[in-house]
Amino acid sequence: MSELTYCKISLKKITTKTSKPGYNNSELKNLFGSTKIKPDLLFSRSEFFQQTKTKVQGMSISGVQQKLSLKVNNRHELEATTEGGEYILKPSPEAYPFAAENEHVAMLIHRVVGIETALCGLVDFKGGEKAYITKRFDKLPDGSKQHQEDLLQCFDLPSKDKYSKTYEEAGILLNEVTSGKQAVTLEFVRRVIMAYVIGNDDMHLKNISVQKMPNNKAIYYDKLTPSYDNLIVEALSSTQKSKIGFLALGLLHDKEDGDEEFSASYDYFGYYTGVDFIELAKRLGLKEKPVRKFITKLATDVKKIIDLVNQSFMPTEMKSIAKEVIESRIKALQNMDYVE
Ligand SMILES: Nc1ncnc2c1ncn2[C@@H]1O[C@H](COP(=O)(O)OP(=O)(O)OP(=O)(O)O)[C@@H](O)[C@H]1O
Ligand SMILES: [Mg+2]
Repeated sequence: MSELTYCKISLKKITTKTSKPGYNNSELKNLFGSTKIKPDLLFSRSEFFQQTKTKVQGMSISGVQQKLSLKVNNRHELEATTEGGEYILKPSPEAYPFAAENEHVAMLIHRVVGIETALCGLVDFKGGEKAYITKRFDKLPDGSKQHQEDLLQCFDLPSKDKYSKTYEEAGILLNEVTSGKQAVTLEFVRRVIMAYVIGNDDMHLKNISVQKMPNNKAIYYDKLTPSYDNLIVEALSSTQKSKIGFLALGLLHDKEDGDEEFSASYDYFGYYTGVDFIELAKRLGLKEKPVRKFITKLATDVKKIIDLVNQSFMPTEMKSIAKEVIESRIKALQNMDYVE
C-alpha cells in the first residue's frame, strides 16, 4: 500500500489532488481548522522525548504514556506548548511499536458505529515515524476549559484504584452524577461493548469521563466526554495476549463478595456474549431493546470496521490479529439469549 493512498485522518481513500500529501482537504479542515496547516512535525521522535522532559511539567493532562501539548502557531505549524494547548500528541511507546496507528484506527472504529469520538489523526515525525494526535475536547472556542471529570475522580479514589470497580458499579455512579440520564447510561453500555469488540482491556476508570455543557452551573454532569484512549490491545504485542472475554474491569458486580459476578451464560461459554451486556444494561435500569439493536447492528457494521482495519496504517500482522479479535467478538455478542 502506498503511504498516500489513505487519508491519515479519516482512513478514506484519497482520490483528488490535495493540498498536503496523505491528507484529504476536508479532513484537514475538520481536525486543524484549515488546509493551511503543515501537519508534518518539525521535530523527530527522539527530540520529542527530549522535549517532553521539559514541557510535561505544567501540563494539565495526566496519563501513563508520554505526550506533548501542541498548538498551531502563526506559521501554521504544530508547535509544543505549555500553555493554550489545543492538541495532544502521543507517539508509540518504545515497548509498543505502532500503538499510534493502532489507537487511530480504534478511534475511527468507535466513530463508525455511532459513538462520539475525539477528533484525531496521524502526523509524521521528522524522520518518518507516525504519532497519534487528538484535538482537545475540553477547550472551548474562547480558550476556557470545559468542566470534566473522570470516573476515578467521581469515585474519589486514588490512581492505583483505577481497576478496582466493576462496569456495573461505574454505571451506577454514572447514573448518580448525571442524575439518571438514560441516554448517557446507554452510551456507556455501548462503549463497554465496544471495548470488548476491539479487545481493549484497558478501559479503566480514568478512561471514561463526564462533561458539563458550558452554561451548566448545576452539580450534575450532562454527558460522557467524546470517547478517547481506545486501543486494540490484543493486537499490540504478542507477549501480552489477553484471553477472550477479558476487560479492564469486571462486568457485573457481585453484591455478596464485592467481586465480579459471572452469568450462567459466561460459565457455560467461558467468555462474554450479548447476554452479559444485556444483563449489565438491565441492572443499570435500561431497557433491553436499544442494546439488542446496537449489538445486532454490529453484525452489519463489521464490514465497515474490517475495511477501516485494512485501510489503517498498522502492519499486516497487527491487522490480522485485530480482524480476528473483532470478528470473533461480534459473533460472540450475537448470542443474546441463554436458556439453562
Ligand atoms: N482529546 C482529548 N481532549 C481532552 N482531554 C483528553 C483527550 N484525550 C485524552 N484526554 C485526557 O488526557 C488523559 C490522558 O490521555 P490518554 O488516556 O489518552 O493517555 P494515556 O497515557 O494512554 O492514559 P493511561 O493512563 O490510560 O495509559 C485522559 O485521561 C483524559 O482525561
Ligand atoms: Mg488513559
